[in-house]
Amino acid sequence: MLISFSAARPLAAAADVLALVVPQGKVAAALADLDGADGFGGALAAAAKDDGFDGRAGTSFWSPGLGKIAAKRLVLLGVGNGSTNELRAAAGSLGKDVRNKGAKVVAIASAETNVAPALSLMIEAYAEGNYRFDKYKPVAQRKAPTDTLTFIGVAEDPRAVAHALALAAGQELARNLVNEPAAEIHPDSIAAVAEGLAGGEVSVVASWDYATIQAKKMGGIVGVGQGSDKKPRFVHLRYEPAGGAPKAHVALVGKGVTFDSGGLSLKPSDGMLTMRCDMGGAAAVIGAMKAIAAIKPNVRVDMIFGAVENMPSGNSYKLGDILTMYSGKKVEIHNTDAEGRLVLADCLHYASELKPDAVVDLATLTGAAVVALGDWYSALYSREESVSAGLLSAAETSGEAAWRMPLADIYRDKIKAEWGETKNTGGRNAGSITAALFLSDFVTTPKWAHVDIAGPAFLDSPLLHYVQGGTGIMVRTLTRWVEGLGQ
Ligand code: BES
Ligand code: MN
Ligand code: ZN
Repeated sequence: MLISFSAARPLAAAADVLALVVPQGKVAAALADLDGADGFGGALAAAAKDDGFDGRAGTSFWSPGLGKIAAKRLVLLGVGNGSTNELRAAAGSLGKDVRNKGAKVVAIASAETNVAPALSLMIEAYAEGNYRFDKYKPVAQRKAPTDTLTFIGVAEDPRAVAHALALAAGQELARNLVNEPAAEIHPDSIAAVAEGLAGGEVSVVASWDYATIQAKKMGGIVGVGQGSDKKPRFVHLRYEPAGGAPKAHVALVGKGVTFDSGGLSLKPSDGMLTMRCDMGGAAAVIGAMKAIAAIKPNVRVDMIFGAVENMPSGNSYKLGDILTMYSGKKVEIHNTDAEGRLVLADCLHYASELKPDAVVDLATLTGAAVVALGDWYSALYSREESVSAGLLSAAETSGEAAWRMPLADIYRDKIKAEWGETKNTGGRNAGSITAALFLSDFVTTPKWAHVDIAGPAFLDSPLLHYVQGGTGIMVRTLTRWVEGLGQ
């Protein structure tokens, strides 16, 4: 998508869709140019009024251009008080609506609101709304994405544009990775996608195959991955800022279960249907790495994920097995469907060995997080105030929702093992908390946060301006958090 700026009159914008930002109660003023004698001649304000449009946030009014203006269609976007949040939401729904119409050339004009401070967020949201995953649809059913988005009457801001497009590209990559079927995105192919980010400040530190993972004694990854014909991979990329004096060092860790059948504790079909999304954490850290490589914050970033397929077979790990993890801890297996924490545990121990200032892991870890918070909020766990506050604030800015949950030691008894040192399930109650407690035993970095994205990573039905499927959730939050540490 190309972003351009124009100082021409909105009336003269040759676009498939011209969108006019309209604050509440300011319809007449906002329409002055378009509704003048050389435009709609007053008919537009009258029609909008008839339709009950008054600029309330979240409302819109569509009209054909009728040859009165250069654009083919016109849409009035209600933005209420014109706050950044409302401008972002309006841009998101515009991105969605114009994609449904296949409009390639779109212009946004704003007479009564200063959109400049919200520019980056509007472009991000627009791209988010404009996204579809339709490559497997017949060509005739696909709608064109936007080629050019022009801001009319807004001062050019190349930095904001580049920043927004970098975030959008990282998020789009994450969404595509989640949406691709598991036959396409499996351990080897997701490792190849990550390796494809190497170049410039990004290097591949490790991209281990099954034999190497076994030799490194990563018992969690081996245990979960051994039942599949598609053998696991372990990937570590590093972004090292040029200049050699990073202000901080962080590790971003993702759960990369490319398909979660449940293993021998097989999931029912309904629950298995969307389990290609179970690498959403890995997709988020890959997407963030892509954005970070473009934005170049002054922070050393290690990106780590274990990629495995959780399958039942004659070689699967079994209930009652005791895995010796990379950290040496012995884990009793009570359910092979609680696989994500095993994969993450090895990655978290590896990340801790790098001695970063902070570790954040992202995972579609538990159905319990979805029961608790639904598909809009991610569950954030951390004992550490600065990381928790930093992530919540970056999420707030990005329009992504996270809610802090308790890492409650009172529930530790639930993961007490009979034979080993810990076990991989903690029962139904507090299932997301006990999963987080399990992970906490494999992290030695004091500043650690775990984000359970099981709800928001993949939407079963459209929500806000997102279509169903992968959302790329947390790519922008992670990137903004890292940017903040570099400042
Ligand atoms: N990948 C699932 C969690 C999940 C559920 C992600 C729904 C996205 C949507 C995870 O591996 C899992 O199966 N967790 C089990 C754990 C249980 C067996 C302790 C769960 O939540 O039921
Ligand atoms: Mn599972
Ligand atoms: Zn899983």
